[in-house]
Amino acid sequence: MNFKINKSTKIYISGCGGMLGLAMYNLFSKLANVKATDIDVNEDWLTYADVRDMESIKASINEFDPDVIINLAAITDMELCEKESDNAWRTNSLGSENVALIALQLNIPHVYISTAGIFGGEKEFFNDFDTPNPLSVYAKSKYAGELFVKQTLPKYFVVRAGWMMGGGPVKDKKFINKIYKQLLEGKTTLDVVDDKLGTPTYTVDFAKGILALLESGYYGVYNQVCPGSCSRYEVAVSFIKQLEMENIININRVSSDFFSKEYYAPRPQSEKLINMKLIARNLLVMRDWETCLTEYSLEYKQNWNSR
Ligand SMILES: NC(=O)c1ccc[n+]([C@@H]2O[C@H](COP(=O)([O-])OP(=O)(O)OC[C@H]3O[C@@H](n4cnc5c(N)ncnc54)[C@H](OP(=O)(O)O)[C@@H]3O)[C@@H](O)[C@H]2O)c1
Repeated sequence: MNFKINKSTKIYISGCGGMLGLAMYNLFSKLANVKATDIDVNEDWLTYADVRDMESIKASINEFDPDVIINLAAITDMELCEKESDNAWRTNSLGSENVALIALQLNIPHVYISTAGIFGGEKEFFNDFDTPNPLSVYAKSKYAGELFVKQTLPKYFVVRAGWMMGGGPVKDKKFINKIYKQLLEGKTTLDVVDDKLGTPTYTVDFAKGILALLESGYYGVYNQVCPGSCSRYEVAVSFIKQLEMENIININRVSSDFFSKEYYAPRPQSEKLINMKLIARNLLVMRDWETCLTEYSLEYKQNWNSR
């Protein structure tokens, strides 16, 4: 089935209070009738629903009677997943099963967001068909959610993201904001790893890609990342350049061992994704990572100038 999303299309988005949720809400609420929920009700357009609790999430979804369900809910802090693994499994796996089962009962399309982190880093690039080998609790629990969706639903999109950037200084929990917070603290030397490789994924483009996929009706698994690839070090260099701080900030290359106490969850050396299927089906809307980072950095420039 494919359909054109319009104002009467009802789209339910769980876990919409985070960095991807903001871009999703901004895009889809202009086009369709959206109900957005999260356990962290940090916007006036969010209501409470917990994907771990079947009764809570089922009541919230059924009351809306959606045409599509998109599940973004996850514990995305990899160290927290190691520390509180029970909650990681209940949120990322059981919670994803709960939402998928409701989509199955309603016989409507379902979108599940997976991660490049499900690959084990045995090689440099991973296409849509490569075999996952998740290393961490986060990756294992996300992959369990992915497997259930694939094995159970007839109408699904599993869309795998890479290193997410988006949400700005308030919502971004990942690398860009971690760098920015160090700048706010007055640091002039940043230690950044150069031995972790991946593909940045801009939330604004990623949301547009989900729209394109939904309207295509081509169900299945898709890698969806910004074209091009890099190391964490290269992302930091580019971000500092965008902020025009390259003359005052020194970026010190370090290996992952440097951060082994702070970032102890196992991570693959490379989690670079290739958008093989999106390109083949002419559905790739993601712009290259440096173009996206240039756009995204404007939010940080503004924030910096308004301190
Ligand atoms: N961030 C990345 O680098 C990345 C990369 C690849 C894939 N993904 C996937 O992309 C999706 C969106 O993540 P994101 O990047 O937007 O991360 P995020 O900012 O952490 O958003 C996830 C949201 O889900 C919420 N949540 C947690 N437990 C929940 C529950 N039991 N019920 C309902 N909501 C719950 C979180 O609330 P709390 O903040 O209170 O936990 C948060 O608001 C996730 O499925 C994630 O696994 C993320």
